[in-house]
Amino acid sequence: MATLARTVALVSGGASGLGAATARHLIQQGARVMVADLNMTSERVQPLRDWAVSQNIRLLDESDTLSSCYAQGPCLAFCPTNVTKSDEVNHALDQLERVFGEPLNVAVSCAGIAIAQKTLSKKGPHDLDDFIETMMVNTVGSFNVSRLAAARMQEREPDRDGLRGCIVNTASIAAFEGQIGQVAYSASKGGIVGMTLPMARELSRYGIRVMTIVSPRNEMKSATIHSLTIYHERLLVCSKHHSCQGCRRVLGKNWVTLFLALVDSVILMSLGLS
Ligand SMILES: NC(=O)c1ccc[n+]([C@@H]2O[C@H](COP(=O)([O-])OP(=O)(O)OC[C@H]3O[C@@H](n4cnc5c(N)ncnc54)[C@H](O)[C@@H]3O)[C@@H](O)[C@H]2O)c1
Repeated sequence: MATLARTVALVSGGASGLGAATARHLIQQGARVMVADLNMTSERVQPLRDWAVSQNIRLLDESDTLSSCYAQGPCLAFCPTNVTKSDEVNHALDQLERVFGEPLNVAVSCAGIAIAQKTLSKKGPHDLDDFIETMMVNTVGSFNVSRLAAARMQEREPDRDGLRGCIVNTASIAAFEGQIGQVAYSASKGGIVGMTLPMARELSRYGIRVMTIVSPRNEMKSATIHSLTIYHERLLVCSKHHSCQGCRRVLGKNWVTLFLALVDSVILMSLGLS
């Protein structure tokens, strides 16, 4: 059986970049994945669709049903979604359950935006709407997906270890070391880091693991792990000073590889497969 054959995942921001890489990576290991992204023009999702076709991966549309999908293992579905809207995220989760036949057990939030603007510049003060939008998409959007995904995950039967699923959010080194022009982005990523521990504590009683992945300090080069936090009933803090086996395994890889390896680690731990 493929490693993640029991994984049913929602990947927000999955139409491009890190999200698309995550969707491909999970599917390659046997998962069923729903990509939820704001921008789902055919041009934008074509590379992912082409990849799925080239790999003989089943592409699902709204008319597909449980029996037609589940029997065929790994598959890919799309649902246009604005992560800041409750009804749109709930609709994506409804669609996921309909085409995959069960609630999700993995939610990976990769939807995000980045702007470059200073608190004060020659043009004047930072535009407030730009700041609010960045907070809305990155912080509120991640929270929105997390809370609604958790509500669906709790409907699942727990596995033998009492686990029901995991939530993976994406922050950035900017949460800790924001550069000039990153005030909005850093604040939004700091918000994600801040919500991780209380959310993990709150959701552990439902058997739902929560983690946030922080990009390494020197992306694409040394990939030293600055801060990897995985929380469940107990707190594991792995840093360059306290590296765990999982960290050591991925040291030296680039950021995307590192990100995918960490997603794997948390899913394998959370679904009791390792
Ligand atoms: N690429 C990096 O090196 C890096 C480093 C650190 C953190 N990150 C974070 O990783 C995440 C993904 O980054 P990326 O480089 O893949 O970016 P990307 O721009 O390629 O992908 C982001 C996706 O989010 C989608 N999106 C934007 N607003 C949305 C909304 N309201 N609802 C739903 N989807 C929305 C976009 O359409 C896009 O497909 C971001 O949160 C980013 O901050 C990236």
